[in-house]
Amino acid sequence: MQAVAQPTYDIIILGASGFTGKYVVREALKFLNNPCSPLKSLALAGRDPSKLTRTLQWAAHPSPPPPIPILTADTTDPPSLHRLCSQTKLILNCVGPFRLFGDPVVAACTQSGCDYLDICGEPDFMERMEAKYHEQAVETGSLVISACGFDSVPAELGLMFNSRQWLAPAVPNKVEAYLSLESDKRIVGNLGTYESAVLGVANVQKLLELRRSRPKRARPVIPGPPPPKGSVIESQKKIGLWAVKLPSADSIVVRRTLSILTENPHGLPGMIESPEQIEKREVFWSTVKPAHFGVKLGSKSLLGIFRFIMVGMFIGLFSGNAFGRWLLLKFPSVFSLGWFKKKGPSEEEVKSASFKMWFVGHGFSDNSLLSRGNLKPDMEIITRVMGPEIGYVTTPIILVQCALILLSQRENLPKGGVFTPGIVFGSTDLQQRLQENGISFDVVSKSVLPA
Ligand SMILES: NC(=O)c1ccc[n+]([C@@H]2O[C@H](COP(=O)([O-])OP(=O)(O)OC[C@H]3O[C@@H](n4cnc5c(N)ncnc54)[C@H](OP(=O)(O)O)[C@@H]3O)[C@@H](O)[C@H]2O)c1
Repeated sequence: MQAVAQPTYDIIILGASGFTGKYVVREALKFLNNPCSPLKSLALAGRDPSKLTRTLQWAAHPSPPPPIPILTADTTDPPSLHRLCSQTKLILNCVGPFRLFGDPVVAACTQSGCDYLDICGEPDFMERMEAKYHEQAVETGSLVISACGFDSVPAELGLMFNSRQWLAPAVPNKVEAYLSLESDKRIVGNLGTYESAVLGVANVQKLLELRRSRPKRARPVIPGPPPPKGSVIESQKKIGLWAVKLPSADSIVVRRTLSILTENPHGLPGMIESPEQIEKREVFWSTVKPAHFGVKLGSKSLLGIFRFIMVGMFIGLFSGNAFGRWLLLKFPSVFSLGWFKKKGPSEEEVKSASFKMWFVGHGFSDNSLLSRGNLKPDMEIITRVMGPEIGYVTTPIILVQCALILLSQRENLPKGGVFTPGIVFGSTDLQQRLQENGISFDVVSKSVLPA
């Protein structure tokens, strides 16, 4: 019998020359050939070898660039993607907007059985990939997980962390996440994220059509009545923020995780799990209680909230037609009121930024209160996830830690399929790894709500 050839590389970073890609390379280099790390070989891939070489120099600075292979691949050239897949265990995809460039990469991975992680924050892309490639990924043993960045891991793990603080007989009903972005300098994002957001809003109808064409997902049973809608602008006094609904990917990804969990109450079985691992996974998922979930963007001032609303209105109004989209993307600074720049943030702006995500959970101190007709939540648990700048520090930390889990614990994870990060990594040591790398999880308060 012939031995199966092992792939040459542990990881290939595709789109390494992009604004986010270069920070992902810098984060990955910290773990390359480190004695405790499973990452022993790495390659960079993209369209332009000279740009990739410069990326490697930037990422390794002040050290000289390590001898890392540079591979040429273009998402418009499927054979080049198949070549990548045949050489690696795992592709980290940083080429976005994913709705424009992601499909051929997922196709190549699922056809070849190679694993795939990305930093996508575009719900329509994620749901389309699940509809199109899940069956094939299960068959070939390719694990495909989108949203392994700030979108949507802090929301996924943050909700689970809050929900696990509700000890029986207490149960949560609703958890609202409030995101606060902070900096001594300006908070700035790169054009790639802005373009992805604009195209996402422009194509929201397509997402609704896709959902209508798909079988209905299982819905979790959440104790208590659905929470009231609430006002558009909220003053959250406990955490000192004004807040407005944030139409990001987070709540959609979390909802998909809760649906998969409802269909698989013990989580997803791993490829080759030991009895101890099975028990550990099942115990973990038995402590996660579903809740209604939403995300709001917070600001210390009401003026900040009006700025968010104005940017949302510009994108909503202009993204519907080609000329409007051209205007939005031609003048990102103007229409995002300075939040997105063609050149992205400076290194100082990246260094000085940070985030806090507060999870305010409301529920019942005793599940049996519900059967006695007490339908008003009487308990509140506030937890918090905090970390450095979201797009170019937190996102690379999360992506690289997810990748290291795949490399070191592959047998404990599902053989293949298209999944959300929460359902795959929830019961692993991802939270602990993030804590060790500068992203904290803490319980802020547990209190009784006034009757
Ligand atoms: N999850 C999160 O929280 C999070 C955080 C940050 C970013 N993101 C997402 O990451 C994506 C990238 O953002 P960015 O700001 O880094 O964008 P960017 O700077 O424009 O980078 C895009 C990358 O894609 C490459 N690329 C474009 N077309 C390609 C093709 N046909 N074949 C191969 N490579 C191609 C570019 O290569 P060249 O260098 O050759 O042009 C570049 O490396 C966006 O979708 C953004 O929303 C998500």
